[in-house]
Formats: sequence, structure tokens, C-alpha cells
Amino acid sequence: MEKVVINTSGVTSQILVGKSWETVDEMLPGSGTIIITDENVFDIYGNKFPRLPVLKIKPGEESKRLEVIERLAGQLLETGTDRTGFLLAIGGGVVCDVAGFLASVYMRGIRFGYVSSSLLSQVDASTGGKNAVNLGETKNVIGTFSQPDFVICDTKMLLTLPDMEYLSGLAELIKTGIIGDRSIFEITEQNITAIINRESGLLSDLVTRSVRFKAKVVSEDEKESGLRRILNFGHTLGHAVEMHGSLKHGFAVAQGMKFAADFSVEKGFIGKDERDRIIGLLQRFSLLGGKPVPAERVEQYMLHDKKRSGSDIHFIFIEEIGKALIRKLPILEVIEFYRHNTTGK
Ligand SMILES: NC(=O)c1ccc[n+]([C@@H]2O[C@H](COP(=O)([O-])OP(=O)(O)OC[C@H]3O[C@@H](n4cnc5c(N)ncnc54)[C@H](O)[C@@H]3O)[C@@H](O)[C@H]2O)c1
Repeated sequence: MEKVVINTSGVTSQILVGKSWETVDEMLPGSGTIIITDENVFDIYGNKFPRLPVLKIKPGEESKRLEVIERLAGQLLETGTDRTGFLLAIGGGVVCDVAGFLASVYMRGIRFGYVSSSLLSQVDASTGGKNAVNLGETKNVIGTFSQPDFVICDTKMLLTLPDMEYLSGLAELIKTGIIGDRSIFEITEQNITAIINRESGLLSDLVTRSVRFKAKVVSEDEKESGLRRILNFGHTLGHAVEMHGSLKHGFAVAQGMKFAADFSVEKGFIGKDERDRIIGLLQRFSLLGGKPVPAERVEQYMLHDKKRSGSDIHFIFIEEIGKALIRKLPILEVIEFYRHNTTGK
């Protein structure tokens, strides 16, 4: 088991990779714990949950809404949960976001922990202390920064994950390799079959590397005023693609990463060989494809992006595999390159 510790605003959070999730009760307070999960995860793992009250949400993004938070808060009140209560999320990024947000506002904040059950949440969503719900079409617009006491990432749980969800998480893992840890990129490149077979030892190693990198970034910049922006690599276009079509997050981010790699070549930051290596790896896992989003739609989205500043955006480029570069650019320059790159106009 590997342990990664994050210190932010005087709070310590530990991420345990390779610990069996079935030992989670060792981490819980003696009383007052309530489990939050979704129906899919409950159907597969519910019979092995610790014997504690369970609140269930519907699987998927539709549960990241304030009405769901309100309903769950009501259920917490009914169970008599007070400020000494503890929320244990068992699930993917949606369950962790919902439980983390609920815990950080219920009675002005109670303690919480995660058993992170999807690859996307293990490599990304459950590290960093961000948790949020959506408002209408706008993702993650109501949220807080608040760290769980612990996160358990048991890669054996990934064996039951549907293929598309697994591949979607893999895109975020590759992203971490591209922006900050070349070894993740290279190990992935060299172990395609083992990764497709979801070998848990190898996955634990990759998840640990990814968590270590994210923990380092988040410890330096908890509230995303500088360095943390590099985690948005591929997300500027990725979010537009995700909002426009019905692509899963990681597939949309993969398209965004291809675009950012092309843009990095255009700017002279990387050579074509590095770009081709990135695209090659994304293709090995069938992460690229789908119709391009019209440039007008991309522009509309970027103008509403909560990460823009005025008419500029912090765009994340790369200067080599394993090293990101932040540049502030006019949104129109990004759109212009997108138009040219995707339609040749
Ligand atoms: N807070 C953050 O920093 C952060 C970062 C990245 C993503 N996110 C959020 O994470 C969410 C996406 O996370 P996700 O991809 O895990 O989605 P998810 O939680 O919806 O899980 C995907 C699907 O897999 C199922 N599932 C989860 N674990 C399973 C398992 N072990 N076996 C079988 N099925 C399982 C779920 O029921 C669901 O149907 C988005 O809402 C995104 O905004 C948050």
C-alpha cells in the first residue's frame, strides 16, 4: 500500500492506494458514520459495506444537483446526524463530489472520507479537495474546497467498471503523464495489454504516481490561482466537446489534448514527433474519434468558461511530454487556431 499525504490550509488528508476497501472501517470514527453511494456501486458492493446506514443516489451526472443535496441533508437530519457525524462516500467522481459538497455544508461542515471506485475518481476527482454540483447545464459551478480525511483507492474495484468508464479515466491518467510525470506516459506506452487487462498491481503504481503529482500541485496551489491550472490541460476544448455531444469526460478531454498538442506544435513549443507520440497513445485506447464541434459552439463555450479572465484564457500547452506550460492568450486566438486546425479554413 502507498500513502500520499496532502497538506492544505492546515488540514491533512491521506490517500491510500492499494489498500483493500473492505478494511475501510479501520478508518472510521466509532459512531455517527453514514454511507453515501450510488445504485450501481451498491448493487455490486453493497453486501460487503460496513454495517452502517446507507443513503443512495442515482448513478451519473444528474445527481450532481442542489435538489439532491437538499434531499440528502434532510435524510441526515432524520438519522440524527449532528456535527460529530462522518460521511463515507463509496463510488466514483459523482458520489465523491456529492458527498464532499454535502459534508462541507451540512451543519457548516462535518468530516468525510472516500472509497474511490472509478479510475477517473482515483486518478483525479478524489484528490484535491474540490467538490461541486452543477447548475443547469453549467458544470461544477456551486462548490467548495474541502479535503476528505482519507481516500482509499483500491484498484481491484476497477475490474467491475464498464469499459467506457475505464477508458475515460485512462485519458485523465495519460493527461497527468503529459503535463507532469513522463514516467506515467512511458509506463502506459509500454504496458498497453496489462492496462487493458486492468492488472491491479500496475494500476496501483500508476494511480500512486498520478495522485503524488496531483497532491504536489494542489499543496502548492490549493485554490487554483497559478500552478493548479495545468491540470486543465485538454479541458478548455474538452469541456466544449463534452457539453456539445454526449461524449464521456475522458474522451472529450482526449480530443482537447490532441488539440492542445497540435497548438503546442503550431507555437513551436514541441516538435511533431512528441505530438505524434501523444496522439498515438490516445489512439491505442480508442480515445479519439467523434465529429468535431463547430467553431461557433466552441467560441460560445469558451466565452462562458469560468476559468477565463476577461477576453483572455489561460491555455495549457506542453514543452515536452511531462512538462506543461501556461500561457495567457486571447480567446479569439484559440478559436482561430481551432477553426484553422479542424476545418482547414
Ligand atoms: N472534484 C474534482 O476535482 C473532480 C475532478 C474530475 C472529475 N470530477 C467529477 O467526477 C465526475 C465523473 O466521475 P466518474 O467518471 O467516476 O463518474 P461516476 O461517478 O458517474 O461513475 C461512472 C459510472 O461508473 C459506475 N461505477 C463507479 N464505480 C464503479 C465500479 N467500481 N464498478 C462498476 N461501476 C462503477 C457509476 O455508478 C457510474 O455509473 C464528474 O461529475 C466530474 O465533474 C471531479
